[in-house]
Amino acid sequence: MKKILITGGAGFIGSHVVRLFVKNYPDFEIFNLDKLTYAGNLENLKDIEENSNYRFVKGDIVDEAFVFDLFKQERFNKVIHMAAESHVDRSISNPTEFVYTNVIGTVNLLNASRAIWGDDFEGKVFCHVSTDEVYGSLGSEGLFTENTPYDPRSPYSASKAGSDHFVRAYYNTYGLPVVISNCSNNYGPNQFPEKLIPLFINNIINRKPLPVYGKGENVRDWLYVEDHAKAVELLCNKGKPGETYNIGGHNEWKNIDLIKTLCQIMDKKLGRADGESEKLITFVKDRAGHDMRYAIDASKIDRELGWKPEHRFEQGLEKTVDWYLENEQWLKNVTSGEYLKYYEQQYEKR
Ligand code: NAD
Ligand code: TYD
Repeated sequence: MKKILITGGAGFIGSHVVRLFVKNYPDFEIFNLDKLTYAGNLENLKDIEENSNYRFVKGDIVDEAFVFDLFKQERFNKVIHMAAESHVDRSISNPTEFVYTNVIGTVNLLNASRAIWGDDFEGKVFCHVSTDEVYGSLGSEGLFTENTPYDPRSPYSASKAGSDHFVRAYYNTYGLPVVISNCSNNYGPNQFPEKLIPLFINNIINRKPLPVYGKGENVRDWLYVEDHAKAVELLCNKGKPGETYNIGGHNEWKNIDLIKTLCQIMDKKLGRADGESEKLITFVKDRAGHDMRYAIDASKIDRELGWKPEHRFEQGLEKTVDWYLENEQWLKNVTSGEYLKYYEQQYEKR
């Protein structure tokens, strides 16, 4: 049986990718390798954990010996690498962790792939899932293309840029069949409530202040997570080795406008008076080095591989809110214990 390794499959995007592969590829064994950090949660995969083609392996991609042993034992045909430390604010307080997981972890996986594949790249691919943040920050005009020079400005984006450079180098130097994607901000079910949309959904439910950084004028390009998962599937099957593909939603929102839209949706869903949730908006000290605007030109993946986002934003946002309201226990479980300490450090002293 052929084998596909997905790293970080217990996280937000990873869980959607794992589900899609387990369902669409019954003839492949789908391995999910995850360390289960604060962001990894096997609850995200409850519905598919009994499927006969699904395997979970708990482990750390930074542990070189463990990674090599696993690759030698399982001899994966394809690798989809999504495991990462992914939150900008955490990278500002603890950058070193990001170097270990995002850079060293990626290099370990590249080396282990080389070790088992040798020069036989038939049917092999190393799909590296990265972010648009490596391109830096835009002014009011322009879009990131695949040729935009790298200009990472946070420890998170610097570590992802570092990993992308290694992945590119392994194509140039060793011919390893890599495909890189650089995607814009994702939203949807199962996102850990440290990122803007799920954090604010949780705070609205609990009538807690909504901490908007700076003036709320920063712009992000939002993509529904299942649209991203389909793009990753396409790249894994049809991406051209050595190439980079930008993925985005053609969906730019100023933070404050997005937050007001979210407040309106939540007021309706929770049966609260119009404008009630907006009163929770609180402007707080800006994030250090806060990138002003991200926006993706996703025309290459559309032109070459026929991918387009399928979800309209308002529809995706409503689906997302519904999911969090229907999965209150999931939300309660992930916002207890460690989360409370994180929240206090991040927001209550701001
Ligand atoms: P996430 O933080 O929700 O999940 C990360 C997963 O990786 C978790 O399950 C965690 O346990 C696992 N992990 C972390 N360190 C590990 C280690 N050392 N060994 C093994 N597993 C480890 O992240 P996400 O938002 O789902 O992002 C997934 C990937 O997509 C990341 O590479 C991220 O850079 C990229 N990306 C994210 C976005 C976004 O908007 N969230 C956008 C573009 C690209
Ligand atoms: P985030 O979800 O952390 O994604 P990223 O920084 O990777 O784009 O943040 C999205 C935007 O929301 C970003 O401009 C920062 C802003 N933001 C806030 O205003 N308040 C918050 O509490 C958070 C987490 C983010």
